[in-house]
Amino acid sequence: MQLAERVQRISVSATLAVLMEAERYKARGVDVVDFGPGEPDFPTPEHIKRAAIRALEENRTKYTATAGIAPLRQAVCEWHARELGSSYQASECIVTVGGKHAVFNAVNALVNAGDEILIPSPYWVSYPDIVKYAGGRPVFIPTDAADGFCLRAERVERAINQRTRIAIANSPNNPTGAVVPPEEFARIFDACKRRGVWLLSDECYSHFTYGSAKPFSIASLPGAKEHVIVAGSLSKTFAMTGWRLGYALAPAPLVEAMTKLQSQSTSNPNSITQYAALEALTGPMDSVAAMLAEYARRRTRILEGLRAIPGIACAEPQGAFYAFPNVAACLKKNGAGGKPADGGEPDTSTVARELLERSHVAVVPGEAFGAAGFLRISYATSMERIEEGLRRLRQFFGSGS
Ligand SMILES: Cc1ncc(COP(=O)(O)O)c(C=O)c1O
Repeated sequence: MQLAERVQRISVSATLAVLMEAERYKARGVDVVDFGPGEPDFPTPEHIKRAAIRALEENRTKYTATAGIAPLRQAVCEWHARELGSSYQASECIVTVGGKHAVFNAVNALVNAGDEILIPSPYWVSYPDIVKYAGGRPVFIPTDAADGFCLRAERVERAINQRTRIAIANSPNNPTGAVVPPEEFARIFDACKRRGVWLLSDECYSHFTYGSAKPFSIASLPGAKEHVIVAGSLSKTFAMTGWRLGYALAPAPLVEAMTKLQSQSTSNPNSITQYAALEALTGPMDSVAAMLAEYARRRTRILEGLRAIPGIACAEPQGAFYAFPNVAACLKKNGAGGKPADGGEPDTSTVARELLERSHVAVVPGEAFGAAGFLRISYATSMERIEEGLRRLRQFFGSGS
């Protein structure tokens, strides 16, 4: 079949492919420890679910304004101001079908063929494909495990040229959990502003930070709003992945362009979901704090457990709910595939496949994020499953040594 060239430029999300393979094992009755999911294991808080039920009973089932119902756009701005210190108006906000859709709309509203978009690496799988779909060219900015995978302004600055249109920042980061400290973020912003480059700040994990790292938005800096696009999501913060609700905050003309694009693609996000989101953003935040406390406990355990496996090195994740260990040093010992004879890139896709086949542990290989040699381990699963998963990982990486 002859498909459009723009569709042939992109591929199916690599993380979704792993999840589907793990599902096939589970469907056969296999007891899989699933470290794959990029979503909270908690249910959506009760008060949010009740708001959705109310919306249904009140027949809030019609089309809404494309950019979202007015009270929700206002609530997004007020929540962001309260939680993260920004000062947006409703005209600078569009409600989207998830945070991914906010990134998609922003990139497609700004990027011309051949424009370069800077993407910190390791990266969330969807950035390069969204950029390629829009006709842009992804340019990767490396971050180092030894530096906690922190994005550095100096590297952003060095990568900017006349074709650069957008620099993406994702803090806390998926897959590394890295958090860019506010001072470094300000330097990144400064480099972008001086060189006329948009800074697209993906804040989908904003509220999941640990230790001294705190929720932070670059949009809170005085004078930043004109050069920044915030992509946000209720998916992770409020355990609402299936509801599909995100937002973008940006200068009004850009929000208008994104709204035009949305009006010819998805139209408004689901109306019931919008009323649930209104409750999430205006109601109590206790459940978010409770989820964070549990993630913090699991993070400590998984980090300790991974570091105790000989050969595994793991930078301390300061945010999100992922650990991103380097397993390259383990590969030749355990009879698992993965260690190249020629000293080239380790093949962690093979390791992930063997882990699932032999030990029934699902993880996402680093290749999906542009980082061979690493595995992404989601700790959005119960402490009990974490213990069992660590036991199987110890056995897998220890065997044959
Ligand atoms: C870094 C990052 N941005 C955005 C998203 C999009 O999430 P959603 O579309 O569910 O809001 C994800 C989801 O995994 C993510 O990891």
